[in-house]
Amino acid sequence: MVKLQTEYLGLKLKNPIVPSASPLSRDVDSARRLEDAGASALVMYSLFEEQLLAEEKQLERFFFNQDLGSHESSSFLPIPERYKSSLDNYLDQLEALKAALDIPVIASLNGVSNQGWIDYASELQKAGADALELNVYYVAADIEESAELVEQRYLQMLEHLLCTVDIPVAVKISSQFSSPLNFARKLQKTGVNGIALFNRFYQCDIDLDTLQVLPSLQLSSPYESLLRIRWTAILRGQLDIDLAVTGGFHRAEDILKALLVGANVTHVCSTVLHQGPQRITELLDEISQWMEDKEYESVQQLQGSLSQKNAVDPAAYERINYMHALESFTPPDSVRY
Ligand SMILES: Cc1cc2nc3c(=O)[nH]c(=O)nc-3n(C[C@H](O)[C@H](O)[C@H](O)COP(=O)(O)O)c2cc1C
Repeated sequence: MVKLQTEYLGLKLKNPIVPSASPLSRDVDSARRLEDAGASALVMYSLFEEQLLAEEKQLERFFFNQDLGSHESSSFLPIPERYKSSLDNYLDQLEALKAALDIPVIASLNGVSNQGWIDYASELQKAGADALELNVYYVAADIEESAELVEQRYLQMLEHLLCTVDIPVAVKISSQFSSPLNFARKLQKTGVNGIALFNRFYQCDIDLDTLQVLPSLQLSSPYESLLRIRWTAILRGQLDIDLAVTGGFHRAEDILKALLVGANVTHVCSTVLHQGPQRITELLDEISQWMEDKEYESVQQLQGSLSQKNAVDPAAYERINYMHALESFTPPDSVRY
């Protein structure tokens, strides 16, 4: 039997497959099915900055309006006892998941500004989160905001978060940085425990009949995993920080490649949404079989063995691969140019 154990964010996990944030964690039974199928930890769906700030404003307005009324009537406007904010609902769900599951539960905060909403992270810690993932899903669409300011945004949020909680923290980032490796080193210096590579940006579409801009959510394809595998190879070669990959991990071969280049864990989402929790069991079986065939005894033995740690000049190596890729293209026989 091969040993599938790995470590991520200081958590000892029985294998490297961790379902990432998705609607599956909104339901305790679905989460239990993920655990039964072999998931080694679970990232919860996100609690959004916008939800927290909107509710803060609503409460402020409520108290302000009370002040405008007469003192006598103010007492007639208590906050309804059954009112539950998104934070309350999230904490309830986190507690329910913690009670139902044996695997670690990683709570997820999703936002883009360094405002007070980050302080709510301490509530997630109190409710029993084993770790936190901060998802900075940010499209830099302000012409005045330089690349350096975009990086500052992430770094300041992380510094704030790390002062707020004691549990391990990972940050889920986009791939769109001029120098991802240099930026990852800055992230590491904040003391963050791990980086999840990469957010999938959802692309808006245009309806040509109505000329409306439409939000569109497409599940991923395995090809997308290659971007994550490349950057894991580069980061693992030069940084000592936990790495999770997310985006396009559908098949055992994609996951094995991520482990070979140095990922601590692989997140899965689309493949499980598409095929159900049982997909995790199939993936684990296929991974074990491949390892047995190749005589690997443990995930730890193969982890990072193909990273770019020993590449003399990783940037030149990438250029050569690029040229080979272009040169290797052969047009299909059936097409005449
Ligand atoms: C329906 C759906 C809901 C998602 N919700 C969240 C979320 O709340 N927070 C988050 O960080 N990522 C969320 N994601 C992104 C996934 O966690 C994951 O990073 C992304 O889908 C790439 O992985 P995949 O290729 O395995 O799907 C969601 C994805 C889908 C498809």
